Amino acid sequence: MSGISVVGSLNVDVSYRVAVMPVPGETVMASDRARSFGGKGGNQAVAAAALGGRVGFVGAVGGDESGRLYLGHLRSLGVDVAGVEQIEHSDTGTATILVDDAGENLIVVEPGANALLGPAWVERHVRQAVPDVVLAQLEVSVDALEAAAAALPDAAVLVLNPAPMPPNGRGLETLLARVDVLVPNRKELGQLVGRGEPRTLTDVRACLEGLTFEGAVVVTLGADGAVVREPGSAPFHVPALGVEPVDTTGAGDAFCGALAHGIAVGRPLGESVQRAVEVAGRSTLHRGAQPGVPQREVVEPGQAASR
Ligand code: RIB
Ligand code: NA
Repeated sequence: MSGISVVGSLNVDVSYRVAVMPVPGETVMASDRARSFGGKGGNQAVAAAALGGRVGFVGAVGGDESGRLYLGHLRSLGVDVAGVEQIEHSDTGTATILVDDAGENLIVVEPGANALLGPAWVERHVRQAVPDVVLAQLEVSVDALEAAAAALPDAAVLVLNPAPMPPNGRGLETLLARVDVLVPNRKELGQLVGRGEPRTLTDVRACLEGLTFEGAVVVTLGADGAVVREPGSAPFHVPALGVEPVDTTGAGDAFCGALAHGIAVGRPLGESVQRAVEVAGRSTLHRGAQPGVPQREVVEPGQAASR
């Protein structure tokens, strides 16, 4: 069975439901508040595991109760947490999230232990895992991700979801040189080429032409699905499911987890993206990042969940 190492963040999310997003200087009332496990890394790992992937996590939690609970949560879902460091003098990362009536969100992350994840720890645990796929995001330091890249077997596939994007994508050059599959959303694609957010599919294609990155690119477009560009071929569009989202928090993460799973089991990229679009769409039908992630039997009827 092919393995995925997710190198990334674990946060505890507190999500507030508001009718309309506040603007600077404004106070709004929330109609409810929900707490759940999150962090882009955690969400991606949980999505891949739900599809039956063999998943190990490399990351950090604090020495607090949230950290212990998160480790138990990941274990209960079959995620190997041997690579998760418990950093006693720090707190587990937190995210404060606002979700409006359209299902859109705003997120502020306080990284806590995620920011302390050390390159030496990452290098050791990625080396031990000998993964087929490494899936990473940017809520841990670029140094930690470069260490993961250095520890990768040559044949392993490195998938990077460049979120959140540092200003102008600065400091990512060394890491990007080892990335095989880059998975930006529209805003991140625009930032990578130093332009505004591409609005139309034509704009997305134009941005892809301006991108110096040479590997495969999968641009996530929310309700518009995704655009895939493989080296040497013309980009193609994969349409979305067409659902009425309740909460889009973590939809991009569900997408990345499903995509990494498809790659790990050897599916062609286009087919992996099709499933990832479906998984992401379904994930928006439930509140919270992880609760709506579909199990394998939902997207592959007739297949029992197994690892
Ligand atoms: O992508 C959604 C995630 O971003 C949330 O779970 C939050 O923790 C932040 O990391
Ligand atoms: Na959801």
